[in-house]
Amino acid sequence: MTTLAGIVPINELPIDQKRVFIRVDFNVPLEEQSGKQVITDDARIREALPTIKHAMDRGARVILASHLGRPKKGPDPKLSLEPCAARLADLLGVEVHLPEDSVGDAAKKVVFDLRAGQVCLLENLRFHAEEEKNDESFAAQLAALCDVYVDDAFGAVHRAHASVHALPKLVSERGCGFLLEKEIKALGKIVSNPDKPFVAVLGGAKVSDKIAVIESLLEKVDAIVIGGAMANTFLAAKGIAMKSSKVENEKTALARTILEKAQEKKVTIALPVDVVVAQSIEAKEGKVVDVGSIPDNHMALDVGPKSLAEFQKWFDKAKSVFWNGPMGLFEKTPFSKGTFGVARALANSKAFTVIGGGDSAAAVKEAGSDVAKKFSHISTGGGASLELIEGKKLPGIEVLRR
Ligand code: 3PG
Repeated sequence: MTTLAGIVPINELPIDQKRVFIRVDFNVPLEEQSGKQVITDDARIREALPTIKHAMDRGARVILASHLGRPKKGPDPKLSLEPCAARLADLLGVEVHLPEDSVGDAAKKVVFDLRAGQVCLLENLRFHAEEEKNDESFAAQLAALCDVYVDDAFGAVHRAHASVHALPKLVSERGCGFLLEKEIKALGKIVSNPDKPFVAVLGGAKVSDKIAVIESLLEKVDAIVIGGAMANTFLAAKGIAMKSSKVENEKTALARTILEKAQEKKVTIALPVDVVVAQSIEAKEGKVVDVGSIPDNHMALDVGPKSLAEFQKWFDKAKSVFWNGPMGLFEKTPFSKGTFGVARALANSKAFTVIGGGDSAAAVKEAGSDVAKKFSHISTGGGASLELIEGKKLPGIEVLRR
């Protein structure tokens, strides 16, 4: 069970005037525009603001640190945290100092010059291979910069990396920020104490990515609504001819086992009854057909209106909903209705609604700001939220317990 037991929230930590290391997850999506890296979604930066502002208000010397992307060969200018420092400075209305490295003289100089309430953001931690290796001596160099450690990087707590795992072990005054606290409370409620009926909505490309989460959800939910390319594999497992649709043929046996297990446990697996098909993902429009009538050379790219109506019956009954993964190729307008339809239906449901980060969080934002606002919780973590739902103990959370 993932609770906050033994984890001290930032408002109870002795941070006044102290050098406070706050691990944030500023691993934001970037797009190159006219040779510059531009942030396309700053939600992870905005979500960290309450913790950062709290530390500033208490006169802490704020040392922020994050990874960005997956650099493999040392420093990569395209993965510099510079755009994040600039965006954060805009949002806070103060200067954010950015030393050129996360450790060594450059970092020490900036950190030890910080005055109460000032903020710096260390350069991308993954520019050092030691970060991903959970290296003790790299962690010790980071520990030497601070008096207190705060983790607010929910998106990274499933990684046993130096700044998330080895470092907090070296700092006795450690705890969580407001974002991590909020994530653990919302996802923890869904994992350990969901109000019933509890419905999971799963989508995305592959069954193989979601096996562990499906198996663990089968123990807890009343129904699993499945859409996206993942549903194709389940439909194929039931003997339906999916024609040119993306199907993981080597996973149909597993899909069949999951369907059988669900039946044993009296969990409904709601699969699409109709789909939007086209001959290619570049098609300008799609055609709605029943799942048994997909024409030759056509592929399923979204769930259809009858499926949405069926799914709606579960959303009306549900008291808790966990959603991860889009219902179709929502990035393309002809195939976006299913995902946006689920987003709107869940936004208007009375259930406690949690979105497990990643593509579904992006889809909800695209469906409109009024839609996103109505969810009980939109997680900032993709992989982290899935692992938490699976019931795993996450290294970055466990290490905070005192
Ligand atoms: C995420 O985007 O899910 C987190 O920032 C973790 O990133 P990673 O998958 O590269 O470790």
